[in-house]
Amino acid sequence: MVLESRPENMQRINGPALAQAYIDERIAMLREQIGEKKVLLALSGGVDSSVVAAMLIRAIGRQLTCVHVNHGLLRKGEPEQVIRVFRDEMDANLIYVDAVDRFLDKLAGVADPETKRKIIGAEFIEVFAEEARKLDGISFLGQGTIWPDILESEAGIKAHHNAGGLPEDLRFELVEPVRILFKDEVRMVGRALGLPESMVERQPFPGPGLGVRCPGAITRERLEAVRESDAILREEFAAAGLAGKVWQYFTVVPDFKSTGIRDGRRTFEWPVIIRAINTTDAMSATVEELPFALMQKLVGRITSEVKGVNRVLYDFTPKPCATIEYE
Ligand code: XMP
Repeated sequence: MVLESRPENMQRINGPALAQAYIDERIAMLREQIGEKKVLLALSGGVDSSVVAAMLIRAIGRQLTCVHVNHGLLRKGEPEQVIRVFRDEMDANLIYVDAVDRFLDKLAGVADPETKRKIIGAEFIEVFAEEARKLDGISFLGQGTIWPDILESEAGIKAHHNAGGLPEDLRFELVEPVRILFKDEVRMVGRALGLPESMVERQPFPGPGLGVRCPGAITRERLEAVRESDAILREEFAAAGLAGKVWQYFTVVPDFKSTGIRDGRRTFEWPVIIRAINTTDAMSATVEELPFALMQKLVGRITSEVKGVNRVLYDFTPKPCATIEYE
C-alpha cells in the first residue's frame, strides 16, 4: 500500500470554506476505500482521534465502531464528554470500556516513571485488542496520524507508534483521513464537522494521562486530588479568559505531605503544584505570569474543595532545565 504524503503545493486550510472542501473530498475518498466494510477506531477523546471519528461517522455512519477505553487517568468529565458527543449527538457505534480498576490495580505500588508508562501502554493495547477480537468482520483500523507525526518520525525525533503494538492477528488496513494535515488544520476541520470547541481546542494531554501528574506510585486518593484540582484550574483559567491563550496548564500532586492547619487543628496533607507554560513546539517552554488575584482564587478553591490538600505551589521553572511534565 502506498502511504499518502502531503502534496508540496497544498494550500493551508485556514478557514471554514477550505475545511469544508477537504471534508467533502475525504468523505468521497473514504466511501470509495471502505465500501460496505467495517472500520475500528480507538477514540481517546483527543483532538486527532475525535476528528477522525467525526469524519468517519459522516462518511460511513455505523460501519464505524469506536472504542473508548477509560483507563482511569483521564481528566474530569472526559469519558462523559466522549459518550455525549459521539454516542448521543452523532449516533456513533461506541463501545465504552471501563478499565479503571484494571489499570489502577496493575499500577499499584509502581513508582518508576518509565515502568508506569510501559504498563499503561501495554495494558491499553491489551484492552483494545480484547475488544477488537469480540467484533466480527473488521477490515480497517482508523488512526489519527497527522502530518507532524510523519515528519517527526522521519527526522528521528519521535517514533511514530500509532500503528505499532497491535498483535499480528489484528493488523488491519489503515484509514488515516487527517494524515496530511497540520494540527491547526485538524482543528479547523473538526470545527467544520461540528465538534464542540472544548474538544477541538483541547490542550496537549500525554498518553499516560494524569498518571504522570501523580508522581511515584499512584494511589486512588492522590489521583482524585490531581483530577479535582485540574478541573478547578481549567474552570478558573476559562473564567479568567486564559483558556486557549496559555499553551498548557495542569496540576501535579507529589507524593509528600506537609503540616497545615484547618479549623484550629493540625493537618498533614499533600500540596498541589500548578504548572502553566507557553511554547510553540514543546521543546522549550516559558512560564506564564499569572495574575496574583487568580492565584489567590486558585489557592482558596483548591484548599477548600480538594480532599487531602493543604497547600498550593506555583512552579516557576522553564524548560530547560525542567521538563513540562513531572515524569
Ligand atoms: P515534556 O514533559 O517532555 O513534555 O517537556 C513535552 C510535551 O509532551 C507531552 N508529553 C507526552 N505526550 N505521551 C504523550 O503523548 C507522553 O508520554 C508524554 N510525556 C509528555 C507533554 O504534555 C508536553 O506537551
